[in-house]
Amino acid sequence: MNEWSPNSWKTKPAAQTVAYPSPEEADRVVAQIAKLPPLVTSWEVLGLQSQLAEAARGERFLLQGGDCAESFETCDSATIANKLKVLLQMSLVLIHGSQRRVVRVGRFAGQYAKPRSEAVESRNGVTLPSYRGDLINHPEFTAEARTPDPWLMLRGYERAALTINFIRALVVGGFVNPHHLDYWNLDWVKDSSMAEEYRRIARTIGDSLQFTESLAGNHPGGFHWIDFFTGHEGLHLPYEQAQTRQVPRQHGWFDLSTHFPWIGMRTADPDGAHVEYFRGIRNPIGLKVGPGMSAEQLKRLIQILNPENEPGRLTLIHRFGSERIADCLPRLIEAARSTGSPVLWCCDPMHGNTRVTNGGVKTRVFDEIVDELDQAFVIHKAHGGRLGGMHVELTGEAVTECIGGARGLSENDLHRDYRSYLDPRLNYEQAMELALFAARKMRALNGYTSDEGFQPPKADSSRRVTARATSSR
Ligand code: PEP
Ligand code: CO
Repeated sequence: MNEWSPNSWKTKPAAQTVAYPSPEEADRVVAQIAKLPPLVTSWEVLGLQSQLAEAARGERFLLQGGDCAESFETCDSATIANKLKVLLQMSLVLIHGSQRRVVRVGRFAGQYAKPRSEAVESRNGVTLPSYRGDLINHPEFTAEARTPDPWLMLRGYERAALTINFIRALVVGGFVNPHHLDYWNLDWVKDSSMAEEYRRIARTIGDSLQFTESLAGNHPGGFHWIDFFTGHEGLHLPYEQAQTRQVPRQHGWFDLSTHFPWIGMRTADPDGAHVEYFRGIRNPIGLKVGPGMSAEQLKRLIQILNPENEPGRLTLIHRFGSERIADCLPRLIEAARSTGSPVLWCCDPMHGNTRVTNGGVKTRVFDEIVDELDQAFVIHKAHGGRLGGMHVELTGEAVTECIGGARGLSENDLHRDYRSYLDPRLNYEQAMELALFAARKMRALNGYTSDEGFQPPKADSSRRVTARATSSR
């Protein structure tokens, strides 16, 4: 294989590239970001890798969640804190269900660039470039807003720095103190039908923490107890390249824009630019796996991306859709196993279940999301393995973007508070409901309790949405 360097990706064919009006100006921005401090450190990155290695061995469960696309506009204290709260609450529930520690990775502090199926968008006879995320251009439908602006990379780096700064302050301060689980409460706890189940779990965890402490006589500090990592799709390679660094006392190169970058489904060509970039960085990385991935392609990708079979290096994030997972997943489990390389399997039950209503609104049906996750647990177990994580698009706000859940949101509710420019996210209550489902499922699979009395919602033909599936390769 050829020599790797932070910009060797430029010698390969790239999907989802951005044509800046002035490539020279884009180079100047990249050079400027390259001089600025990194957003994360190599110690943290390697710390995450060892946690993911533990997850691959079945000792932890990975929770990854956040917006489909973060926006510069909502880089504010409430939005960030609420996202942290819902992820913390979900992780408590998952600790209880899996009886394992949870690895928390937020889709934040850099989730600003989006792959698009269509390069252009037409409205009333006018055709403009598609909106590609705040790192690239603006959502407004004008020629000026849609023209890629390289300075947005610098704005994105700054927003990511502000976000990570606030998250670190919350994590090391009192906010995530496990003795004050009430700090994490969002409004739903007051009036949700699931509130009592959550409170019971929180009480059990609080009690066992107290018990451990009185036994061991120590007081685990909040920030030793809880780690938070960041992740985003490593889509816009100039931005990633600008933050690809060598550090003292470590060999190789790190992408220090984030702890956990992943390769999206549209850029997973083994001979393409993204795979070239990712093979050379030392971060633990994710790879999205969809229905279009053949067993041969997956084996090649594993070989290219993890030639040394390093534990924790590669997480396969599968997203097939509730109707296709049973067909697609088993052969890929066998393919990955045949390489002998350790991988962590994580289920993204969102991206294979995107639908468009007859009114043209992008949505997802909660029952289908639950159904895919349910099948993922069962299929991995039936194949002698284990589902080691879940990856969800969610928000800490009470948005109405996905249909269903305990509050029974219907297609008619979508217009009420639909804020996403791109994919529809679970609101905090739906996100908690999914975590409670996963927790019960893991307890049942671990033999703690039976599934008796609990009826997983079944996806059926009488869904409350009259929607067609969007294409999903
Ligand atoms: C995403 O995670 O927002 C995304 C675009 O996913 P995928 O690459 O799996 O379609
Ligand atoms: Co998305």
